[in-house]
Amino acid sequence: MSNSVRFLLNGLTEVAAEAPPDLSVLQWLRTHCRLTGTKEGCAEGDCGACTIVLADAHEGALSWRAANACILMMGQVHGKLLVTVEGLADGALLHPVQAAMVERHASQCGFCTPGFVMSLFAAYRQGEAPETEAIHDALAGNLCRCTGYRPIVDAARDALPSGGIDRFTPMEPAIVASLHAINNAGALDCVTKHGRFTAPRTRADLARELAANPEARIISGGTDLALDITKRHQRLPHLISLVSVPELRRIEVSDIEIIAGAAATYAELLPHLAMLDPSFEVLLRRLGSRQIRSLGTIGGNLANASPIGDTPPALLALGAFVRLESAAGSRELGLDDFFTGYRRTALQPGEFIESVRIPKPAHGALFRVDKISRRFDQDISAVCGAIAFSLRDGLIHAPRIAFGGMAATPLRARHAEAALVETQSFERAADALAQDFQPLSDFRASAGYRLQTAQNLFERWRLIAAEART
Ligand SMILES: Cc1cc2nc3c(=O)[nH]c(=O)nc-3n(C[C@H](O)[C@H](O)[C@H](O)COP(=O)(O)OP(=O)(O)OC[C@H]3O[C@@H](n4cnc5c(N)ncnc54)[C@H](O)[C@@H]3O)c2cc1C
Ligand code: FES
Ligand code: FES
Repeated sequence: MSNSVRFLLNGLTEVAAEAPPDLSVLQWLRTHCRLTGTKEGCAEGDCGACTIVLADAHEGALSWRAANACILMMGQVHGKLLVTVEGLADGALLHPVQAAMVERHASQCGFCTPGFVMSLFAAYRQGEAPETEAIHDALAGNLCRCTGYRPIVDAARDALPSGGIDRFTPMEPAIVASLHAINNAGALDCVTKHGRFTAPRTRADLARELAANPEARIISGGTDLALDITKRHQRLPHLISLVSVPELRRIEVSDIEIIAGAAATYAELLPHLAMLDPSFEVLLRRLGSRQIRSLGTIGGNLANASPIGDTPPALLALGAFVRLESAAGSRELGLDDFFTGYRRTALQPGEFIESVRIPKPAHGALFRVDKISRRFDQDISAVCGAIAFSLRDGLIHAPRIAFGGMAATPLRARHAEAALVETQSFERAADALAQDFQPLSDFRASAGYRLQTAQNLFERWRLIAAEART
């Protein structure tokens, strides 16, 4: 058992013995360590000014990812290498991504610059190719309000081909050994006068902790939960983390289904869900930024029961199931029955989502998901719609249609489904949608826009069906 948060900070061992469970890494870096290169812009994961890089030891090597320090709690970095912008230079020698940013004049006021440098550093360490699409993907979670993006993209093109060699390269074996030593010391249970952060290692221990501590909050990636702290100014004195339970991170793929442990991240799931349809890959690439996708989990996206979460419409259309577990046992529930009201679910006290079972569309069946948001990258959906159906003798069979952003929960469009079967007309099904949903107006979209946009998706889906028939 480890009773303090331990990790490597820029290569050196760090022990945060008294860190409150709801203290963000950003606050700790800036106030405790006086490492003020990491900036606070939005404090909600949107601007990327606070980007740091985490590395995990896995099979003798390090895997690197960018993360937002503003929505990362201290317990989440236990057993990892944490790199800040101060850790990149080798003495007086700038890191290749820093040197490229200077060379390309890619900074003006400089407020966003450490965040861009760290996003590029993560891409650099992962050996990313200097291709435009990959660079845009790496930088989509970083906002700059004065330089303009072209010189930053140019700097990325210059730096990325250097092949991931830098001051961390010779340190890797020692870093891996140190991280293994921390992780081999047992599960984290950090109890301080400010509260408790626990990261059980088994499902049974997790279930026991949840049963014994009904007031505790589950934290998975923390990309939603952290906003309760940074934006709603709540104190969360007891957090129980899911991510150290290996089964909750598993991804099992068979001919008929994908089973995703609830704590599998979007980054981990992306290549598998992309196999279901290219539109699923597009959806996931537009879900937050790399920083968000490296931490955010599929279980968190369902448990928060947001009406505008992106995976629920796709999973409802695919007929997914959730496995719920507690100290009392486990049960499987169709996702149709999981969302019970606005931000309410069928989860009982002490219960957690263990996994999500996603049936693959049968041979010849069609599946498609479409997200409409005001901004293409890193924006929440105004409307998200998904459809799955098969064609039998050219006729549409057993359609499942679901929408987010149209009601208090992600929801099937039962009237539209029935109309599609009965009339075989996407136009009539679109008309029937008005019986399914009376959406709200808010700052993302008006009710009229939402309904019209959702109905327009039926025209897109009609074309897909027509193409499949030819
Ligand atoms: C900048 C930004 C952009 C975002 N963009 C998008 C977007 O485009 N689309 C989108 O859908 N979402 C988006 N999100 C929201 C968020 O990233 C996702 O909902 C994510 O999937 C949440 O997962 P998590 O692991 O981080 O959940 P957490 O924050 O850890 O948890 C969320 C809630 O679910 C509970 N919980 C988590 N896992 C479980 C479980 N297994 N069992 C029971 N309860 C559990 C927690 O207690 C908490 O109440 C964005 C968030 C940010 C900050
Ligand atoms: S401060 Fe904006 S993403 Fe963290
Ligand atoms: S350099 Fe000023 S915000 Fe980017």
